Formats: sequence, structure tokens, C-alpha cells
Amino acid sequence: MAKGKKAVFLLSGVFSSPHPASGGELPTEAVAALGGLRASYDLFLAAAGGDGPDGGVGGPLAAGGDVFSGLCPLPAGEAGDLSRRLGEAVRSLGVRTEGSFFVADDPRLVEAAEGAGLCGLYILTPRGFRLLGDLAPDVFVFHDLPDAVRWILDHPEGPRSVSAVVRRGAAAIRRGGLVAFPTETVYGLGADALNPTAVARIFEVKRRPLHDPLIVHVADPAEVAALVTEIPPAARRLMDRFWPGPLTLVLPKRETVPDIVTAGHGTVAVRMPANRWARELIALAETPVAAPSANAFGRTSPTTARHVDEQLHGLYDEIIDGGACRVGIESTVLALAGGRTVVLRPGGLAPEEIREVTGEVELPVPRGAGGASPGMLASHYAPRTPLFLVDDARPYGDRPDVGLLLFQDPPGPVRGQVAVLSPKGDLREAAANLYQALRRLDRLGLRLIVAERVPPHGLGVAINDRLSRAKSGDTILNS
Ligand code: TXA
Ligand code: MG
Repeated sequence: MAKGKKAVFLLSGVFSSPHPASGGELPTEAVAALGGLRASYDLFLAAAGGDGPDGGVGGPLAAGGDVFSGLCPLPAGEAGDLSRRLGEAVRSLGVRTEGSFFVADDPRLVEAAEGAGLCGLYILTPRGFRLLGDLAPDVFVFHDLPDAVRWILDHPEGPRSVSAVVRRGAAAIRRGGLVAFPTETVYGLGADALNPTAVARIFEVKRRPLHDPLIVHVADPAEVAALVTEIPPAARRLMDRFWPGPLTLVLPKRETVPDIVTAGHGTVAVRMPANRWARELIALAETPVAAPSANAFGRTSPTTARHVDEQLHGLYDEIIDGGACRVGIESTVLALAGGRTVVLRPGGLAPEEIREVTGEVELPVPRGAGGASPGMLASHYAPRTPLFLVDDARPYGDRPDVGLLLFQDPPGPVRGQVAVLSPKGDLREAAANLYQALRRLDRLGLRLIVAERVPPHGLGVAINDRLSRAKSGDTILNS
């Protein structure tokens, strides 16, 4: 048994700036969550930079933490140096690194913490989103501090705890079981793609119609050759450029892929996810994994393990909790046939990026016209609260029973329940927050949700697509 205190370091910023997509009461909720940690950990509120010793938040201290100023002022320069300083400070506090955590919304600090032997966790505050591009791909990210705290309590050994679940999950897949797992887009509900009975269980559990085909996930591009009869040159170029990542390619299938996976189509959809745990699961299972999003059919897709559990509790064999999904919206589904490149479902890879590789890209036929992708049903992704889609939601803001889903910070104050997808109007950030924000508004027991369209370019195409499928109408009657 290693000696020393087990500790959780919390960067002050993760308290003071909750993301407006997750609601305003977060600091209170966050402080409450810390109560659960106090039984097993020493808590240190890490102050860094010029925001004063406690970053202007007394709350965490009230929850029983100490201020840790070993990083104050945050030294400029190399993460290696920061790591060394952090390591020394941690030792002088009598903390053992193994089984201790550092929670921050700054990639430099997470990297330094990992360098010093702590498990670094990253929170998607507005600042966290702004700097997300600099974060190493395998770091666990969370929508908010309460989510991170719950994760720590469930995973006392950090990534080692996750690895153990991944091993059990791979064994379950080999036995024909179902495993819920994180990807960079949304959580998936996976089964052995080559086992028709196992795949049938996915449809059963989700109550998904059998005519809606599944995506087959691989751990390595080389595994695609066993699933398809042909990889056109454009598909090869797209795989080289965007895999692993939020791009699904529809290609002519081989006999080995069971009909239930493809709903009888002669094509199969394949994708290599960017999430480390998804790929480890597939690699250890030694079989491609068929997986739809892990939600009940037609409902809002999950971006955390808790979301999965809320809808599908008890219906799968294992669940791998890898934190929040960084992209937060499903992959872009692309058909490549006869020299054409057609987006069947807009998603986490923007059409503009695809166009850079393939030249022309055809966007989906507008809804109602009966698009080519069987899964493009008009009603999908829906919250239980009726949702209306408008160009400007602010005029509906004064009613206590109406929730607003806004793209960015409104110019003036808005009363009532509001979720802001991205304060400064960044479409990637908005995509990553979409489902989480919809779920939160849905839980409030409102009469209706009024959502506004976002700019129709980049990931905005996918966001508007999901909003238009989640809605119950366009017009709001004055009642
Ligand atoms: O990001 C994602 O794509 C997530 C994660 C888990 O990988 N998966 C996901 O799966 O969103 P699902 O089943 O919710 O959506 C799959 C979409 C559907 O619109 C389906 O109709 C389409 O892909 N699809 C699958 N196979 C197809 C095929 N052979 N031809 C045309 N569309 C296909
Ligand atoms: Mg889905």
C-alpha cells in the first residue's frame, strides 16, 4: 500500500466559470459534490495566475478544502518545468501521486499534472472549450465539475480502473453481449458486428426498427478490407486524413457482414472512432463492433455514461465511463459511389473539411423528401418537452414555463431558463453542448423549449439538422 495522502487538486477556475449550457446553479452543485470526495481525499483548491488565492470563490473552501498556491503565479514556459514544480509541491504536501487527481480547464496544467504522476481531468468550461485544441487526445474531459467528481468516486485508480472495465467489456462482446462505450461523438451501444444474434439484441434494447442499419466500428483502418469489397481512392484519402475521427463511410459490403447490420442493404457503414477506450475495446474483442448511439430509439443521444444509464439502465452487460464526448454530435455519414460524394447525415466533420479532400460534396436532401439514409427519419433526437425551432428565440424569454436554447450570449439579460450553447458563438463548442443542454432543459418540466437555428455552415449544418429532427413544430401559437 503506497504511503501519503490521496488528494484531489481543483483549479479555482473550474468553480468560478461553469459553462452556460449546463445552467447557473452549478457552483452550489459543484461544492455539494465535493462533500462526497471529502471522506476519501484531501482537497486542494489550486490557484493559478492572477485571479487571487481562491480565484474569487469561497465556496470550495467552505467545502473543506485548502488553498494550494504552489502554482501561483503560474510560471510561463515549458510544461516539463511546470510538472517538476508541481511534483515538488505535491511531495511537500505529503501527497502520493498514485490515486490522486488534478482537475483543471487548462491543457498546460493537465499535462503538467500527468507529467508529475497525477491523473489529470479536464472540464469543458468556456475556457476549457477555447483551449480544447491544445489538449492531448487521451485526457478525460467532463461537462462540469460534478460529473468529474462522480467519475473520481467511481474510478479511484483513474485510467487503470477504466482499463479493467474495458477488459470485461471485450470479454462480454466476444460472448455476444452488449457494451456501452464512449466515442468522441456520442456514446455507442456495441455488439460483435459478425454475430447476428448479438446485433439483434441492440435493436431489441433500443426498440429500433430493423430497417435502420448500424455503423460498424474498427480499431484500425486495415480492418476495413475484411468488411467491404472495394475502397475507392477518395475513401482511402478521407480515411488517411480524418481517421480516427467523426467520419463514417458507406461502402459496398462483403458477404461476411450480416444482413441485420446493414438492414439488407448492399453497403456497410464503417468508422474508426478517435476515443482511446473505444479502440481498445474493439482491439481486445478482436472483432469489428456494430454500434448505434446508446439512447432509446428517437430520443436525445448520450454524451456521458450517466446519460446512457438514464435511458438504458440494466439493458447492457458493461458500461465504459470515459467522461464526456469531445465532439458531442454524431459522425458525418458519407456515401461514396459512382464518383459522387454524398453526405447522408451531417455530423461532427464539417462539409467544408470533406470538400478539401474530395472537391464536390453533395448535401442531404431536405427532410420530408425521403433522403437516401434510412436513419434520417423526420422525428429523432427528441426531448420529451415539445421543442420549437425559430430564428431568434429571445422574444420568448420572459415566460417561466418556457426554456430557451440559445446559440450565443444574448446582448442583454434574458429571464427564465436559458441554455447558451457557446457564449462567443463557436459552432464546435455549440455542437459539443447540444445534447447536454437539451437534456437539462428537458428535465425542468417546462411547457416548451424554444431553440434557435445556428449559422448554417461548418458544424452548424449538423446542429440545425438535429434541431429540426428534435422539434415538434416551427410556429408557436400565442396561448
Ligand atoms: O457518431 C456516430 O456515428 C455514433 C457513434 C456511436 O459511432 N453512431 C451513430 O449510430 O450515430 P446511429 O445508428 O445512431 O446512426 C447511424 C446512421 C443512421 O442514420 C443510419 O441510417 C446510417 O448511419 N447508416 C448506417 N448504415 C448505412 C448504410 N449502409 N447506408 C446508408 N446509411 C447507413
Ligand atoms: Mg442515433
